Amino acid sequence: MSDVWHPLSWKNFPALQQPDWPDPQALDETRRNLSGYPPLVFAGEVRSLKAHLARVAKGEAFLLQGGDCAESFNDFRANAIRDKLKVLLQMAVILTHGISKPVIKVGRIAGQFAKPRSSPMETRNGVSLPSFRGESINDPDFTLEARQPDPGRLERAYFQSASTLNLLRAFTHGGYADLTRLHTWNQDFVANSPQGQRYALLADQLTSSLKFMDAIGVNAKNTPQLRDIEYFTSHEALILEYESALTRQDSITGDWYDCSAHMIWIGERTRQTDGAHVEFLRGVKNPLGVKIGHTATSDEILRLCDLLNPENEPGRLTLIGRFGHNQILRVLPDLLRSVRQEGRQVVWSCDPMHGNTYSAPSGHKTRHLDEIMTELRHFFAILQAEGVWPGGVHFELTGDDVTECVGGSHDIREEHLAERYETTCDPRLNAAQSLDIAFLVAEAMRASQSR
Ligand code: TRP
Ligand code: MN
Repeated sequence: MSDVWHPLSWKNFPALQQPDWPDPQALDETRRNLSGYPPLVFAGEVRSLKAHLARVAKGEAFLLQGGDCAESFNDFRANAIRDKLKVLLQMAVILTHGISKPVIKVGRIAGQFAKPRSSPMETRNGVSLPSFRGESINDPDFTLEARQPDPGRLERAYFQSASTLNLLRAFTHGGYADLTRLHTWNQDFVANSPQGQRYALLADQLTSSLKFMDAIGVNAKNTPQLRDIEYFTSHEALILEYESALTRQDSITGDWYDCSAHMIWIGERTRQTDGAHVEFLRGVKNPLGVKIGHTATSDEILRLCDLLNPENEPGRLTLIGRFGHNQILRVLPDLLRSVRQEGRQVVWSCDPMHGNTYSAPSGHKTRHLDEIMTELRHFFAILQAEGVWPGGVHFELTGDDVTECVGGSHDIREEHLAERYETTCDPRLNAAQSLDIAFLVAEAMRASQSR
């Protein structure tokens, strides 16, 4: 890899998972437009997230990352955005209380549109069409017209991200995240589940502590920490035309930032050390994630650390393991040891979703809560045994009452999947299942801290 980086130097490297744009002129126009539009996030915010993640790398804070597998143009409603925020707030409360450390809140939102695919073509009943690559590229309908990549969709994704972020900023700094509203984040359909009730009990406890604090003069009016949260955005940096068009040079430091989100990650399928994604991301100063599957080797990971974090800056690099419940014990300990032996500063996070996907007899892609929980338990036990701080967790979830993953307190079974299966891509935890998982993570963390 040559040393000269610029926002388009990735074009000299093989770029996997990019659409075949049928109209190069339309793509040029989109790229020009996006380059001129305002940034979605600011360098100062990105630096703030990196400082928080540096504390995570040192074992002083915990990263909670979650949201849709893929955002969609159809599901672009205030209620859906609000309900996703609600679940994340509830999970953050459970975790902050459970581990007594700050929880850094990062959504998979406001930009998570594009999906890597295992094959560029999809065949149904003898008809082959380009695969669906996410709504910022093409439409899921199975017709030639719908599947044609359209760069205009990248602009639509940009504008949807801008208004999503606008609403999130309003909520998180406008009183919605105020801790005195703890109870209102519990949604109706969750409130009667065992997990909803468990949350309500915790909310009661915390509310009475807040009343005590108010009596001694500490309240949301004089203490903004009780009222506001810092909420950050993230997505997979997959479509390099989009990411590079939103990359800007910071006027204060002269550094480059990808201003499409605070944190961006490289997927398991595009993390080749001689590939375009690594080349692009090494040049921007954002905190980066890299997804690591069960075939990853220590050499690959160390090479990724060299390329993406040559200065070994804590907070720069988060390794997000997605090994699968039956692989993590075999694979993770060696990887952890080599990274530690080489003294690399990284955050270790666990994505217990992507290694545990299977097809139910009905044909629905699903995930079982038991397997998700098993991978999480193994993750915490392994890191504890190696003396490494388990830095965070990464989920696909929604605030809606969907039936996409099986198991959990509502006991969704495979035969229920068809009832409310709404995802455009991978199966997500619903609100009640997300609370289940948050309690489990808090317990697993507490158990490893007290040992
Ligand atoms: N500001 C603190 C934080 O972000 C406390 C806080 C306020 C909070 N509202 C919250 C924590 C909602 C979790 C959820 O941690
Ligand atoms: Mn996914």
